[in-house]
Amino acid sequence: MSDSRIRLIINDREVEESGVPPNTTLLNYLRRNLDLTGTKEGCAEGDCGACTVVVLDEDAAGGRSFRAVNSCLMLLPMVHGRRVYTVEGLKKNGTYHPAQEALAKALGSQCGYCTPGIVMSMFEACYRRDLDTPWKLDDQLCGNLCRCTGYRPIRDATREIAGSCPKDDFSAALAESPETSESLYYEAHGQVFAMPNTLDELWPVLASHPNHRFVIGATDLGLDVTKKHASYECLVSLERVAGLRGIDAQESGWRIGATTTLSDLEAATEADLQPVARMLRFFGARQIKNRGTLGGNVCNASPIGDMPPVLLALDATLVAASSEGERKIPIDEFFLDYRKTALRPGEILATIDIPRPSARARMATYKVSRRRELDISAVCAA
Ligand code: FES
Ligand code: FES
Repeated sequence: MSDSRIRLIINDREVEESGVPPNTTLLNYLRRNLDLTGTKEGCAEGDCGACTVVVLDEDAAGGRSFRAVNSCLMLLPMVHGRRVYTVEGLKKNGTYHPAQEALAKALGSQCGYCTPGIVMSMFEACYRRDLDTPWKLDDQLCGNLCRCTGYRPIRDATREIAGSCPKDDFSAALAESPETSESLYYEAHGQVFAMPNTLDELWPVLASHPNHRFVIGATDLGLDVTKKHASYECLVSLERVAGLRGIDAQESGWRIGATTTLSDLEAATEADLQPVARMLRFFGARQIKNRGTLGGNVCNASPIGDMPPVLLALDATLVAASSEGERKIPIDEFFLDYRKTALRPGEILATIDIPRPSARARMATYKVSRRRELDISAVCAA
């Protein structure tokens, strides 16, 4: 049974939508349809962070986390069944959120254009328990550009509230058990957006829409929407399909679900698969890593993808799934050409299996780019 309407909660307000085109970005929906104009548009390509909002998301371990995301790159149906917080929703009972207080006290805002986005990244930082080293604070903020204040007061304010987890309504929402939402089959203005919850629901959708395009985090596809004004007849989102997200660490190696986000992967590999975590440190902004997935980076088959060289060096095996069953593809047989992979029509990438390197193996990863943060690799090596 699929839901044909998009249902979500934005700042404690329940929203139900059935009329907007599925290719509408979350940013445009917030600003144009709900008049929530605190969230700003700067670049519309995931670089500046002015559009940052927070989604209450499920993490790889099955718990709940606040995730700062770029609303300019997300499409509205992707937040079906989720709670979204914008800067307008942080003030409670006349009291500003600690992130807002700290930024104001540190004089961390001048023109204020970047400020709502920075506050939302700080909001995520406030409820994270793993910001235990200075570089993680830099990483938390590197997706938010400010052109006039200077970063020291912003960083100082963030350091003050990072990991403080105040006992408030937001902490209470984090502690609730994850909500289950119906899978979504949303159709409007001649466009379809399907977001099935299971593989059994997925296969019939693929069969009935041969012109579908897969999407997960939309960190790449979102650019086509905002920059090339692309519109898709049928998008099939894999992000909620059960069994495709999470990391299973075994003696023999790791099985990583294709829809595992890069931030979950970074956290999971920090201790015992350091070369992967190291590449993810310089992969992109926190907002991008909160939405981008390992499977998306691999299936994009882009020559500037940062994870394929790492997976090639690790001798990963890709497991493809279809209604016929599963088959294994060694990663060095997966990339056929520019943006062309060995996946067949009707197949999806289900997991990425990485064998545990021998104790004597030595591995390092390198990304060379013109600047350290948020840049495309000139050379990426492992
Ligand atoms: Fe710049 Fe979204 S508007 S990241
Ligand atoms: Fe002006 Fe940051 S305060 S861009």
